[in-house]
Amino acid sequence: MEKSQVGTTLTHHALVSQRAHAKRTGEQPAGDFSELLNQIAVAGKIISAEVNMAGLADILGVAGRTNVQGEEVMKLDVFANNTLVEVLRRSGHVCIMASEEVDDPIDVPAPHYPGKYAIAFDPLDGSSNIDVNVNIGTIFSIHRRRDPYGTRGKADDLLRPGSELAAAGYIIYGSSTMLVYSTGHGVHGFTLDPSIGEFLLSHEDITIPEKCGTYSVNEGNSSKWTPATQKFVEHVKAPDAGALSGMKSRYIGSLVADFHRNLLKGGIFLYPADAETGEGKLRLLYEAAPLAFIAKHAGGYASTGHDAILDIEPDGLHQRVPLIIGNRDAVELYERRVGDEKSGS
Ligand code: AHG
Ligand code: MN
Ligand code: MN
Repeated sequence: MEKSQVGTTLTHHALVSQRAHAKRTGEQPAGDFSELLNQIAVAGKIISAEVNMAGLADILGVAGRTNVQGEEVMKLDVFANNTLVEVLRRSGHVCIMASEEVDDPIDVPAPHYPGKYAIAFDPLDGSSNIDVNVNIGTIFSIHRRRDPYGTRGKADDLLRPGSELAAAGYIIYGSSTMLVYSTGHGVHGFTLDPSIGEFLLSHEDITIPEKCGTYSVNEGNSSKWTPATQKFVEHVKAPDAGALSGMKSRYIGSLVADFHRNLLKGGIFLYPADAETGEGKLRLLYEAAPLAFIAKHAGGYASTGHDAILDIEPDGLHQRVPLIIGNRDAVELYERRVGDEKSGS
């Protein structure tokens, strides 16, 4: 059959996968999830337009950082946060939210209808790269609320292990704007066609390539790593130390961009624990867990070095964890190398 000249839109793809889910579970396809995903895409388009204008506003912005319309130029991460909160509140599919930019859970007050999903997001990941025109992104994770008939959502709907996620994904604002998501049945990538304002399927069923040829870590922190972590990084760098060595180094400094490159080309990203505190930098709920969910459904894996990211019961909305993510064999090698170090040592 000749190839259709009309691409597959995100909305259509989500509806089809929701019908397949309904068939598997016997549930009635309500279309809620595909509508929610569509609203996330709307927020992504608004943020993408702003991200692309920001450089211009910078050039045109007058002293005092007001833009040409005389409005106060909001920092892009605040703009992205406000956009997501507003769009998701009005969607009718969200009962509670958590954002990197807001300390407490964000509720969905009347007159907005409290939908059946609880969502956590990093509205703008890679903020340090905004002003230098390097890829940044939005990361989101979606739980079904615990009480299917409840009304207002609560933090408890969000404080669950990533293994219980209904879906997760990210939007990357780069040479093109891409939305990548999974509901647990494959990982799918959509590229925004600005001429029609639609995300079109461009990467169906993404699986992380067999070969882990790249490591991605901020080596400026190496003095803060545990000895086993230092040795692991030396191993992957060594030209001929056998399996999982001789890797090249790539580090963008935006988690979403480093992860996306490794997902498409194979690689391991590390933000290891600080040897003193045992703490990581990245947040579990809206950075590590959603990307661990994506990695898993693309054949990869994510760990703190001691525990699988998807198994961790969050103890707070902004809990930080060490994150080692990418090709399963490389992450498991890291786990073996640091395994006998006490976790949090
Ligand atoms: P955010 O901009 O949402 O705060 O996230 C920044 C994170 C992540 O994107 C990236 O991997 C990491 O910070 C980079 O940290 P370093 O600059 O310490 O390497
Ligand atoms: Mn981030
Ligand atoms: Mn952020």
